[in-house]
Amino acid sequence: VETLTLSLPIDSDSSVPVPRQVADGLRLLIADGELTPGAKLPPSRALAKALGIPRRAVVQAFEILAHDGWVDAGVGRGTFVRSRFETGARSGASLSVNSADASDRFAWDQVIAGRVADDGGMWRTARQGGDQQNWIRFTGATADPALFPTEELRAIVDEVFVRHGSQALDYGPPEGLASLREVLADRLAARGVDVSPEQVLIVNGSQQGLDLLLRLLVVRGETVFVEEPGYANGFRLFRAAGARVVGVPMDESGLSLPRLEEACRRDAGRFLYTVPAFQNPTGICLDEERIEPLLALARRHSLPIIEDHFDGDLVYDGEAPRLVKSFDRHDQVILLGSFSKILFPGLRLGWLVAPPPLLAALRELKGLADFSSGLLAQHALALYCQRGLLDRHLERTRKIYGDRLRAMLDALAREMPPEVSWTRPRGGLTLWLRLPPNVDAWDLLARARAEGVDFSPGPLFFPSGGGREFIRLGFVREPVENIERGIRVLGQLLAAQSLTERAKVPSSPFF
Ligand SMILES: Cc1ncc(COP(=O)(O)O)c(C=O)c1O
Repeated sequence: VETLTLSLPIDSDSSVPVPRQVADGLRLLIADGELTPGAKLPPSRALAKALGIPRRAVVQAFEILAHDGWVDAGVGRGTFVRSRFETGARSGASLSVNSADASDRFAWDQVIAGRVADDGGMWRTARQGGDQQNWIRFTGATADPALFPTEELRAIVDEVFVRHGSQALDYGPPEGLASLREVLADRLAARGVDVSPEQVLIVNGSQQGLDLLLRLLVVRGETVFVEEPGYANGFRLFRAAGARVVGVPMDESGLSLPRLEEACRRDAGRFLYTVPAFQNPTGICLDEERIEPLLALARRHSLPIIEDHFDGDLVYDGEAPRLVKSFDRHDQVILLGSFSKILFPGLRLGWLVAPPPLLAALRELKGLADFSSGLLAQHALALYCQRGLLDRHLERTRKIYGDRLRAMLDALAREMPPEVSWTRPRGGLTLWLRLPPNVDAWDLLARARAEGVDFSPGPLFFPSGGGREFIRLGFVREPVENIERGIRVLGQLLAAQSLTERAKVPSSPFF
């Protein structure tokens, strides 16, 4: 109990309720591997006494953890940290035709050294709607497959074979195809980022870029800063590699700099991961006024910045947001990008721009990870861009996605009860909605699914727990009429639920 209490500092002045603080603290200890699967938590009475808080607060904290699937609580038995692994035994699946009975099977969960948190079943629940036909899906932050330019691509691939023959099917250089890197350097120049093609590394989607960066910059147990709410498959990846993930709150203008300053004072972060343009999940852009102060802050704390520009070119209204990298005079920003959202994800191609010393190491590591990204795909993409087809495709999709975004904003304005608020992005893929005070996102999800509407509940995007008062709505994958129908359903469900607490009207989706 004593060692545990040292790791659970309770701040009685904090606006975060004490049970939440205890739950978050314990959850971090579990995520960081300090409390291992099967470990028994101390009895609530003993822990409450040691922490100097009411027992009820500890009981509530255990309830929160159990609900989120981090622990199993058995009446009279105590509370135990849950296994992180979905083993065949637990899911009831038989692994092979020859499987012995469960007690004879090899005990994989005792030998797997990595830690892939299953987030307590949260993701399984969130994905349950994935295979339902006929549902209206506001889940996901991905482009609409109906718009993928398959015919154009087919012609381009034919041309690649005519030009390069069987060489197009060989291994490529680890850093990526020169012509594709040139295309990217040109595109970046147009966005105010002056880099040579040699500074660009081709990767299998920005997700691989993140993975490589993580492996070079962070060792197990070190801290990384992420936005909260933020990109879930980013912080889940960091956590799986043993990083301690610290969420820094967002507000209407993007990442909160005072809160980042606080986090830096408390802890030496190895990097800040940020999505400044049309952030996933909120759709918010970092206010341009914050860019210089952010860079200055990061410089004071020797904090590298990973800028993820995953959908920053999907602008439907007004100017494209300026890249943080375009302000970077000290080579402190690593820029990540992707073709997944502006084009399609299936070729698995993204890129990163990194300062020379880091780039050399990244190139080696990329070579070791998979020798090179697929050469055929790189040739095809380079040619696709050189022909001006990417810009034409972007023009077409921006118009369609812009119509869908406007349809969703109009429908929200029409259908939502007054205590609901939401962000109004002018680009990207998703927006962020705050529910009425008495409505829980998981609860709403169950009721919405019964009506054939799916969305992503807020807790998925909060690395430190919480978020039940929010939902993420993806607006690019459904046609306008489905958007209108789906938002009407959500509006009706919320109106029916929220009659009780009309008084409290939060003024923004964040506070
Ligand atoms: C913020 C963000 N970054 C990166 C990615 C990964 O994209 P990819 O690996 O396909 O480039 C995603 C995917 O949804 C994302 O939302």
